[in-house]
Amino acid sequence: MVPIGSVPVTRCGGHSWLVLSIVIPGPRTGKASQPLARVIYHWSARFPWKAPTHTAVLGYCGGSAALAVRRSDMDLDLSGKTAIVTGGSRGIGKAVARQLALEGVEVAVVSRGQEALEATARELAQETGRRFFPIPVDTGDDQSVRAMTHQAATALGHLDILVNCAARPGGQGPVPKLSEITSELFWEDVNVKVMGYLRCAREVAPYMMQRGWGRIINISGLAARQSGSAIGSMRNVAVVAMTKNLADELGPHGINVTVVHPGTTRTEATAGVIANRARSQGLSPEEVEQRMAQANSVRRIVDARDIAYIVAFLASPKAVAINGDVIAAGGGVGHAIYY
Ligand SMILES: NC(=O)c1ccc[n+]([C@@H]2O[C@H](COP(=O)([O-])OP(=O)(O)OC[C@H]3O[C@@H](n4cnc5c(N)ncnc54)[C@H](OP(=O)(O)O)[C@@H]3O)[C@@H](O)[C@H]2O)c1
Repeated sequence: MVPIGSVPVTRCGGHSWLVLSIVIPGPRTGKASQPLARVIYHWSARFPWKAPTHTAVLGYCGGSAALAVRRSDMDLDLSGKTAIVTGGSRGIGKAVARQLALEGVEVAVVSRGQEALEATARELAQETGRRFFPIPVDTGDDQSVRAMTHQAATALGHLDILVNCAARPGGQGPVPKLSEITSELFWEDVNVKVMGYLRCAREVAPYMMQRGWGRIINISGLAARQSGSAIGSMRNVAVVAMTKNLADELGPHGINVTVVHPGTTRTEATAGVIANRARSQGLSPEEVEQRMAQANSVRRIVDARDIAYIVAFLASPKAVAINGDVIAAGGGVGHAIYY
């Protein structure tokens, strides 16, 4: 075996890998780099050799062997854990499911539309090399949540992490004024975003308590901290109140419960929202996007992937010190000081 060189740093699966490739004489020699790194990454997720700061794997593919070393300043210790991500078929939920899988978690993605769920599960499985379980659920319904939880626990073997993300995002259409708010509109939203999150926590918590460990992350939203949508603010504030209560009740059982407040976040729906605003305001889509970016202090629309990084951290054993609290993830929205 002759070392033929190295690819100093290869990006793969969201990580930086140092890949040292070695050619073994054979029919397909000399092809190391990207495809090989990908194979190695997927192998590594299953059989890594781990030291506190490095993960190393040896891979072989089509005549080339390689040693890949990943420096991990902070391994999230998520490998082998399982998760349910509600609203996992698209948007923030899908980004969270992807990021958890990249960290070694097996995920049940759950929402109502079965076709979209299955397509997402296939796409993410191919991208990450992990198993995904698409399970239909309506989180607005007790029986449906009970059945989904049982199915997820059976498929995954145990339940470690719940990410509550299934709800209609605000800010994508006209907001009802006081005279337009009906009881149906209010209860429909609250039943899914508040009671729906609570339902899922109620069904999943016993599985976590059995093992003495768990993480519940509730995706709420910065409408909790500003006016503009009465129902939007009320439901998001309620999620925060629920979270602190659950955190205090479940904390002694090893279960941390937290909230992430996204601000305006780029998802698959954002291009359509920008196009509609551009049409109605007589602006170009670029101008609308620029204006939207001015709403926070990082001056760009935060991406669903940015939210997913935060959720992955909160889901990890390393986040034990955060319980019952809120992480605002809007890129710096507003001028109020929270202390
Ligand atoms: N995107 C933003 O700018 C933003 C900002 C602040 C807060 N948030 C919050 O983040 C969360 C996700 O928003 P998003 O933008 O990612 O939304 P999205 O792209 O519309 O995705 C919503 C997900 O929830 C599912 N869902 C909706 N109602 C459901 C129900 N009753 N039962 C089960 N699944 C249901 C949807 O699938 P089905 O329709 O097929 O069920 C979909 O998978 C929401 O709580 C939202 O309020 C978003």
